[in-house]
Amino acid sequence: MKRVGIITSGGDAPGTNACIRTIARRCFLDGVTPVGIFDAWDGLLAGEVRDITRADVSGIVQTAGTLLRSSRSRLFLNPGDPQIAVAALRKHAIEGLVVIGGNGSQTAAHLLAQAGFPVIGVPKTIDNDLEGTEFTIGFLTAAEMVTHALDNLRATAYSHNRVMVVEVMGRSVGWIAVEAAIAGGADLALIPEFAFSLDEICAKLKTRHEVHKRNYSIAVIAEGALDAQGLLDPQSTGADKLGRRKLGGVGENLAREIETRLGYDARCTTLGYLQRSAAPCAVDRILATRVSDRAYDLLQEGQSGLLAGLQGTKVVPVRLADIVGKTKKVTADYYRLAQVFG
Ligand code: F6P
Repeated sequence: MKRVGIITSGGDAPGTNACIRTIARRCFLDGVTPVGIFDAWDGLLAGEVRDITRADVSGIVQTAGTLLRSSRSRLFLNPGDPQIAVAALRKHAIEGLVVIGGNGSQTAAHLLAQAGFPVIGVPKTIDNDLEGTEFTIGFLTAAEMVTHALDNLRATAYSHNRVMVVEVMGRSVGWIAVEAAIAGGADLALIPEFAFSLDEICAKLKTRHEVHKRNYSIAVIAEGALDAQGLLDPQSTGADKLGRRKLGGVGENLAREIETRLGYDARCTTLGYLQRSAAPCAVDRILATRVSDRAYDLLQEGQSGLLAGLQGTKVVPVRLADIVGKTKKVTADYYRLAQVFG
């Protein structure tokens, strides 16, 4: 294979540039041309495609974002779309493709592979919700960023006798919330996977403040977490171009409920896109490098329809057919660990 395409799609995640760099560097070593598809699937259709140069991938292992830019696309929602994408790839003489992305992107990769185009996936999303890999690229950096935020917010929470609510990303899973809650010593971790009641939360806070005589608390809530009665639901959120509801606001509502129900001073800090834009931590850079290196090998070996996933200490090929459409959720046992310290 002499022309290898690289595409990044979905939300950006720290470590993505380390992936692009690895694939490009492997190409250069083999006398293969790495071809960059800019602005994801819509960019492919618009012809935003050009060869990647050595200069493009120089000095980017440590940077956040994606050199190739990214977006969410409606391509692949209709039955004829994979053929449209294949035709666009062939137009640029691309012989095989590495798709760097999360659930939506890997679904697209699977459809392309089914349409007969050689594709290998690289797992990238801060949400860590992709099956077939223990960690996705970007997740550990995001969790680290939230942990540092919790460390800092603790000072203000203590100084002002406050309940600090921290809203983090996590549309349908709470990996970031749980990981950071454990590492940052949060008192509450509220996530989409496990229902909670406001009565229960308030009772926990009351015990902490009135029985254990603590003057502050820290509660981490994932943006997609809702109490069992739906009282925290912000309601008035628009939709993105895929029709997915834009999230945000559940943390503010939680802080307000705590103030109303308990009379404690409560404030919300929403960390938002800061979780995606941090420089990748060393572990993410290394994970990105390892899985991308393997993805390149798999493609050159003539394989397709696979994801290069981390399982234990090894990078292994995982069939996309076995993982697409699934969501890797926080397990009860892992969630329990975040609650032990509450
Ligand atoms: O990358 C996944 C994610 O971080 C989700 O947790 C979040 O809901 C989403 O991105 C929001 O991204 P955007 O606003 O860019 O669509």
